[in-house]
Amino acid sequence: MVSETHVTPADLIWPLFVREGADTAEPIATMPGVFRHTVDRLPALAKEAEALGIPAIALFPYTPSHLRTAGGEEALNPENLVCQALRAIRDSGANVGLLTDIALDPYTSHGHDGLIDDSGHVLNDATVEMLVAQALNQARAGADIVAPSDMMDGRVGAIRAALEADGHHDVQIMAYSAKYASGFYGPFRDAVGAGGYLKGDKKGYQMDPANAREALREVALDIAEGADSVMVKPGLPYLDIVRRVAERFDVPVFAYCVSGEYAMVEAAAAAGMLDRNRVILEILTAFRRAGASGILTYHAPDAARLLNG
Ligand code: PBG
Repeated sequence: MVSETHVTPADLIWPLFVREGADTAEPIATMPGVFRHTVDRLPALAKEAEALGIPAIALFPYTPSHLRTAGGEEALNPENLVCQALRAIRDSGANVGLLTDIALDPYTSHGHDGLIDDSGHVLNDATVEMLVAQALNQARAGADIVAPSDMMDGRVGAIRAALEADGHHDVQIMAYSAKYASGFYGPFRDAVGAGGYLKGDKKGYQMDPANAREALREVALDIAEGADSVMVKPGLPYLDIVRRVAERFDVPVFAYCVSGEYAMVEAAAAAGMLDRNRVILEILTAFRRAGASGILTYHAPDAARLLNG
């Protein structure tokens, strides 16, 4: 009766990894309990999300190495893994929101989120053109929400304009507005196969973990450009940023409890160091207490089962 915050499955977004092939769930060594699923398995997972009361899933592709190029052209292929997955889920009738990531790192041979010059420097404006085409490709395949995770300047406005011109008035943009250059993304890079390719780091476009006021400027820009909601990422180490963004701005604020955070909980629980289910729910409560409208978490299905009792 006196609880100030509540968590329900409706607050959760479940990220899923997609791979090619048939009827396979491939384990990811650095994310125990998380799998790369073949496209044919996704409708059942989408229906599981729906049955659990999880309103949306986020799709990330594991692109085979022969399809990775310096220019990341596979991102624009209407038959790429994400587009196949979107259509398969749509055709299945599963009633769940479909969120897709906008960034080139699952498709580039160098593992960066954008196009690079000869010295390895990421080219902002040339990348934005690619991201716009990628967003249209995903919207045409059925994405409900596109989520630019690339941190290029000006991409939200450019994507919004292109979506409108192409008739996708109802497709939302969830902007990864305050995304930090973080060590907590390591397991994710294994999951999408980008880690082995990445040359250098992403500090040229992702944020400095030392900065908080800069996050507010990034969020303000994305909202001005047309973002429907914004995200702070990683999650737990950046709860102060979630709080500041939620207090300052009147758009939904999402937090991404990232792969490294998931891995920490699983590793500690497997070693008998803490009570897994208890900390999963405590972590989600902390996000809500800090002001997050929702949380992207690999624990989504297990958390929903716990919450549904
Ligand atoms: C890529 C992207 C990343 C994540 C989501 N989209 C990794 C990165 O920026 O290197 C991380 C998610 C996670 O760690 O769970 N643009």
